[in-house]
Amino acid sequence: MNPSSILKYRPFSPVALPDRQWPDQTITRAPRWCSVDLRDGNQALPVPMNVEEKLELFEMLCRIGFKEIEVGFPSASDTEFAFVRRLIEEDRIPRDVSIQVLVQAREHLIRRTFESLVGAREAIVHLYNSTSPLQRRITFGDASKAEIKDIAVNGTRLVKELAGAQSATLIRFQYSPESFSDTELDFSLEVCEAVMEAWGPTEGQPIILNLPATVEWATPNVHADQIEWFCRHLHGRNKALISLHTHNDRGTGIAATELGLLAGADRVEGTLFGNGERTGNLDIVVVALNMNSHGIETGLDFSGLPQIRAVYERCTRMTVPDRQPYAGELVFTAFSGSHQDAIKKGLDRRERDLEKSSGAVVPWGVPYLTIDPQDIGRSYEAIIRINSQSGKGGIAYVLDREHGYDLPKTMHPQVGLRISGLADQQGRELSPDEIRDVFLKDFANLGDPLALEDFELDHHTGERGQVRCRAKITMNGDRQDIVGVGNGPINAFVHAMEAAGFKDFSVTDYRSHAVRGGSDADSAAYVQLQSLDRTRLVWGCGVDPSIEMAGLRALVSAWNLLRA
Ligand code: KIV
Ligand code: ZN
Repeated sequence: MNPSSILKYRPFSPVALPDRQWPDQTITRAPRWCSVDLRDGNQALPVPMNVEEKLELFEMLCRIGFKEIEVGFPSASDTEFAFVRRLIEEDRIPRDVSIQVLVQAREHLIRRTFESLVGAREAIVHLYNSTSPLQRRITFGDASKAEIKDIAVNGTRLVKELAGAQSATLIRFQYSPESFSDTELDFSLEVCEAVMEAWGPTEGQPIILNLPATVEWATPNVHADQIEWFCRHLHGRNKALISLHTHNDRGTGIAATELGLLAGADRVEGTLFGNGERTGNLDIVVVALNMNSHGIETGLDFSGLPQIRAVYERCTRMTVPDRQPYAGELVFTAFSGSHQDAIKKGLDRRERDLEKSSGAVVPWGVPYLTIDPQDIGRSYEAIIRINSQSGKGGIAYVLDREHGYDLPKTMHPQVGLRISGLADQQGRELSPDEIRDVFLKDFANLGDPLALEDFELDHHTGERGQVRCRAKITMNGDRQDIVGVGNGPINAFVHAMEAAGFKDFSVTDYRSHAVRGGSDADSAAYVQLQSLDRTRLVWGCGVDPSIEMAGLRALVSAWNLLRA
């Protein structure tokens, strides 16, 4: 930054909490979750959702498992009001779900909010006013602390009065000292305690005190200190649920929430994929899946994450970035060779361990993957993708998993070099089908200059276990009939070639298998040849419905590659 620009910024004052406890805690259970997608998320959209889109998202949030959903700011617009009415009048709120509505601590807005709730079984009324010195000075024109506290307390009293008058609805109460993150801690505490006194919570019917990092001004450890300080100093802590509501201005909203939980918070507000004002709200998907990855059940079901993302993108018109944890297109994809090798080894090992485990749980342990992509509806196919950075292991993985060609390990470098070289030359990613096509074109059933036209095997040669092979080959277009005897088709064919003058190689390795998923039940065979001077080893492949023909084609392919 320009040296004269930097002068206008100031360090953020740390919290005096020398005996802080949160660094020694671990997260062992999930908090209560509250989705604010339909309010904070919606307020932040260039084109806010219409009622139908909000309904679709609401239903999905219920399916995911949210039990508290902030459905809007009913006093803010007709659409917001109408949405709350639709939910109530059409009886769309599941019995185990509480809707939450936000309102500023202003009389006419509070009254309008209560009108929106007529007929509801239960609702959380969420009252807020801003408390920070910056807001007091700028937004409220140098309002005093006492004036700010009065706004909160008067708002609370009115909510209490209206809740009493609307006794058919069970009203729970939430208060947010908005801009908590840069409010003096003792003043936040003073306001919240005054609100508690006005509301009169009990242990059985606690107040929700939501302590928002409305703007993220400091490192996440400072947020944790603020939360721990608040929890330790609050009178009647047992009558309050402490709720986190982080934003992401510094890019650490998730970290701030996780540390806030260590610091003693009970509840978390956030949105799917972190949608929200400026750089967004807390991404609740990430926090919940982080917990799952440590074996903690959260009550939220993200097993269909791609579908959840699709509904979210359609309703909000936002997009989830390719690198978004868990949900991004590329987060379970490895391009780098060393990562691909390690992932392939991890997945193979897991498969073997599962076979041996006779149904017992096998702990997850695949390099580079914190969770099993299948647990959130992602598939293995997309894990390994091929560009110029890719290694032999990844290419072999794609040929195996996607096309059923299980190449011998010592063939991987030869094929890997060719395919990553092509990706480099083209300067782009190669699709699994392109990889298969290049592999088949360059390594399988090669016929130039030597081609195998036909062959016949005779298993009754007189000598036990011996096979006679008669084959028609062409060399540079010249046709020859060759014949040889050996202890198997390959061996007999090699002898036939030698008898015809092809003596410049020896067979060093061979294997074959049925092509998995092949539509016409092909076999694939791989033959490795060594040059006569032993300086070169080359693999070739043969693919054919007949396993014998596949073997001979593999040998001819290898011979052509050796000559190339
Ligand atoms: O970020 C914030 O402070 C809010 C409050 C209204 C809770 O969204
Ligand atoms: Zn917010």
